[in-house]
Amino acid sequence: MEYSPERSIKPDFIQPLTMNLTTKFMGLNLKNPIIAGSSGLTANLAGILELEKNGAAAVVLKSLFEEQITFNYKSKLREVDLNIQYPEAHEFINNHTKQKAVDDYIDLITNAKKALSIPVIASINCVTHYEWTAFATEIEKAGADALELNMFFIPADPQRMSAVVEETYIEILQEVMKKVSIPVCVKVSPYFSGLSNSLLRFSFTGIKGMVLFNRFFSPDIDIETMKVISGPIYSSPDEIYLSMRWLAMLSDRIYCDLAASSGIHDGKGLVKVLLVGAKVAEIASILYTKGPGEIGVMLKYLEEYLTRHGFSSVSEIIGKMSLRQIDNPADYERVQFIKYYSGIE
Ligand SMILES: Cc1cc2nc3c(=O)[nH]c(=O)nc-3n(C[C@H](O)[C@H](O)[C@H](O)COP(=O)(O)O)c2cc1C
Repeated sequence: MEYSPERSIKPDFIQPLTMNLTTKFMGLNLKNPIIAGSSGLTANLAGILELEKNGAAAVVLKSLFEEQITFNYKSKLREVDLNIQYPEAHEFINNHTKQKAVDDYIDLITNAKKALSIPVIASINCVTHYEWTAFATEIEKAGADALELNMFFIPADPQRMSAVVEETYIEILQEVMKKVSIPVCVKVSPYFSGLSNSLLRFSFTGIKGMVLFNRFFSPDIDIETMKVISGPIYSSPDEIYLSMRWLAMLSDRIYCDLAASSGIHDGKGLVKVLLVGAKVAEIASILYTKGPGEIGVMLKYLEEYLTRHGFSSVSEIIGKMSLRQIDNPADYERVQFIKYYSGIE
């Protein structure tokens, strides 16, 4: 169900927070562990102001997509029909379109920095090696507090070895790290054959944080029209379990802070990801379906949970149920329902 302002819980109806919920993610001091993840809601100043007003501790701006810029450029070429007649027009329109998109994004960062008192994290998704570093440099100059690299190359080519795929990520991370000094995090997918080792090696590049996991467009098919359509745009609460397992298994073993993303739809979900080792949660779907007022509801739940269990700060629960902290670490590594299959339980 889509969010409508009339139906959403207004922040005024939520009891004000009484506890200090501060936390730290990649060196940024945050007033609480909820970050508004990158989405259409963080694509403009009005949207991010609304998220700040409702209690978000930081915002990740909508990604600047190189692919989108290239698409705009190609449409522009078609529009003016200069493609064949004036080959030199290619370069002009390409540079112009790209610069315009980057300039708009830089303006958003500058305006957000002026208007907001919470950290502003920029986000980029590039295709070519060069653009990752070029965009990153411009974003740092614009004053973003941090940069999130929304990185995913679908390993669709059966000829491409997994080591080559992983090396591409590492090369890009190393290049970006050479160019910028603001904190950098990478938002990853779970689709690596050796996920733990890949993420460990990513953390050696000097990045300050990692977001587990991004959620992607999934193609569905319409069996009547035989067309490819979009799968569900918003996550379901069940999607939290994949992130939870990997946060639990990796939070003590990776050399950077971890953020959780995917399927965090309520206060309970927020508490769970903190317990398994995330420093923060990056949420999106619930902000669309229930509205930004849900941030206050989730924070209130967190506060009540901490009080009920006798904790006085968020840091006391972060990682309390990570792999190394629980009595039976094998619980996180179990993948088969053996007991259930054999009918013992
Ligand atoms: C409509 C929509 C647009 C999104 N756009 C971006 C984006 O531009 N960049 C990005 O890194 N993630 C993007 N995301 C992913 C979210 O930031 C988030 O990581 C993901 O949806 C999982 O969190 P959730 O279960 O709370 O939705 C988008 C998500 C949605 C629903």
